[in-house]
Amino acid sequence: MAAASGKDSRSQELAALAARVAGCTACRLAEGRTQVVFGVGDPDANLMFVGEAPGFHEDKQGYPFVGQAGKLLDNLLAGIGLARKDVYVANVLKCRPPGNRDPMADEIEACEAHLFRQIALVEPRAIATLGNFATKLLSGKPHGITRVHGQPQPVTLGGMDTLLYPLYHPAAALYTPAMLRTLEEDFARLPALIAGAAGPAAPAAPEPVAAALAPEPAAEQLGLF
Ligand code: URA
Repeated sequence: MAAASGKDSRSQELAALAARVAGCTACRLAEGRTQVVFGVGDPDANLMFVGEAPGFHEDKQGYPFVGQAGKLLDNLLAGIGLARKDVYVANVLKCRPPGNRDPMADEIEACEAHLFRQIALVEPRAIATLGNFATKLLSGKPHGITRVHGQPQPVTLGGMDTLLYPLYHPAAALYTPAMLRTLEEDFARLPALIAGAAGPAAPAAPEPVAAALAPEPAAEQLGLF
């Protein structure tokens, strides 16, 4: 039998990983889930999106970003000439937290190896993190998304060098027009970024006044942004 090509072999290794993760019982979220939501997309994608965790619809259907936030993600992708099939989409947590509550630190710890393996297999040129949880995990820094959105940063993940590109979470932008505009502007810079010709980083957003008083702006404690 002929050896699998690069893409075939990535695809096979991702499928094998998905099959293993499907039975994961490493944390309490295994008890309440309908199924593990592993991730989906082009195994050879230059661009990977990492969200927070499956919600109600994702848990039922088994795919990431299939609810309202996913529709917005599709529209944003279409705005830069891309579709889901062109990218790879995964979450920090592979199982739905009850009532869509925030991920807990021990759940992230139990699950993160799956994400790092996905990254190592896909080897994307850029990883767009959606919201605070993915951004903090993959940057290894405590800075919240309000401060770092739209600023590409080189990182080494899963043993490979790539560019992290933090974005507001689409679920947060759904209800906040100003945030949606910012998300669209940040999205518009993605094609140049993945072509390896990123323009100058967007200027850092000024720290909200509240940040001088608290480590993170209060709104960020919602987790999504
Ligand atoms: N929000 C996320 O972070 N991930 C999903 O898959 C859906 C909504």
